[in-house]
Amino acid sequence: MNNKHPASGFSTRAIHHGYDPKDHHGALVPPIYLSATFAFPTAEYGAACFAGEASGHFYTRISNPTLALLESRMASLENGEAAVAFSSGMGAIAATFWTLLRPGDEIIVSQTLYGCTFALLHHGIGEFGIQVRHVDLTDLAALQAALSPATRMIYCETPANPNLRLIDIAAVAELAHRQPNITLVVDNTYCTPYLQRPLELGADVVVHSATKYLSGHGDITAGIAVSSHALAQRIRLQGLKDLTGAVMSPQDASLLMRGLKTLALRMDRHCSSAQAVAEALQAHPAVQWVTYPGLGSFPQYELAKRQMKLPGGMIAFELKGGIEMGRRFMNALRLFTRAVSLGDAESLAQHPASMTHSTYTPEERAQHGISEGLVRLSVGLEDVADLLADVHQALAKCSRPSVRPAATAAHVLR
Ligand SMILES: Cc1ncc(COP(=O)(O)O)c(C=O)c1O
Repeated sequence: MNNKHPASGFSTRAIHHGYDPKDHHGALVPPIYLSATFAFPTAEYGAACFAGEASGHFYTRISNPTLALLESRMASLENGEAAVAFSSGMGAIAATFWTLLRPGDEIIVSQTLYGCTFALLHHGIGEFGIQVRHVDLTDLAALQAALSPATRMIYCETPANPNLRLIDIAAVAELAHRQPNITLVVDNTYCTPYLQRPLELGADVVVHSATKYLSGHGDITAGIAVSSHALAQRIRLQGLKDLTGAVMSPQDASLLMRGLKTLALRMDRHCSSAQAVAEALQAHPAVQWVTYPGLGSFPQYELAKRQMKLPGGMIAFELKGGIEMGRRFMNALRLFTRAVSLGDAESLAQHPASMTHSTYTPEERAQHGISEGLVRLSVGLEDVADLLADVHQALAKCSRPSVRPAATAAHVLR
């Protein structure tokens, strides 16, 4: 594929990689190929395509020119060799698991995971003879002890949804690759390749919910897996083509490429506004605790600085008074929208224990570090002054008499 800008910077590649208008009648924006099937010039050529002996598009569930452009762009941004596009993040994750794991294999997964990934492990692949073992991957000795000759995959999110716990990708990769046949898969949804590139740190596959920051506008569901050519080919021909069929539509690929053009700008803004909101929460007397990788109080602050370009746009916190107060806070919000998902232009607030992570039992949430009172914020692109004003007015409604002293005459007169 045409690539005029092989050594360019991140945003240049996000806008131009793999596309030259002069090959497409001068069209500035890549065309959308709305074709499910593609004509063979000869019967022999068609047979060669199916035998894997000729390259070329022949059916969109396997490949399509619009998807191929998006895939090459994503591979470039993650610094991988190849990518495969899916109709959702769960499509990408499920296809990666089903392709690379077989009955009798073990998968080691970090403690905290997005609710549907947790459900896929425990109510999906875990019921098909694959042993699922949760290990605290921040404890390398525990990982070392958990590895066995049957271990085929290590899987983690960093930062984890929803508690933002980080995993040291380079350290886990180093341990994983002492043993042959272990694939390290990292869900990079919270960071995007603008903030963190797991393949450069030793991971083998990066998966994304591209529904989130990558597309950035809340108007599609999409997923991506990025890896070596060889792994991507297996994930495409087994996981995508036969095992899930979860192919992305060409229209969604076009919307995703539109989102990628502004990814760096959006991420810078998400991060700077989230930093301001996290600091405001931390300073407020109604707040019990806040986790945000950009706060000095964040337990893995040094790792965050080393592994991530910026701390991201996601915040987890709990109010004094737990979820009862958390609900009062969410219901008082005027600018933040009460909704799941993340990474959109609109700021979003949700309660994982009763929403995205209700796939865990209360006991499992306690075991996996997801507090019942945790409120998750996805800080959007609105003016930061308006976001801070919204958070402050909502917090003001959460201040119990025991938290903030009642107004005295001196306060009123001031
Ligand atoms: C970290 C993470 N991974 C994967 C997914 C699943 O992605 P999708 O909803 O696009 O299937 C999500 C969705 O919220 C997520 O937050």
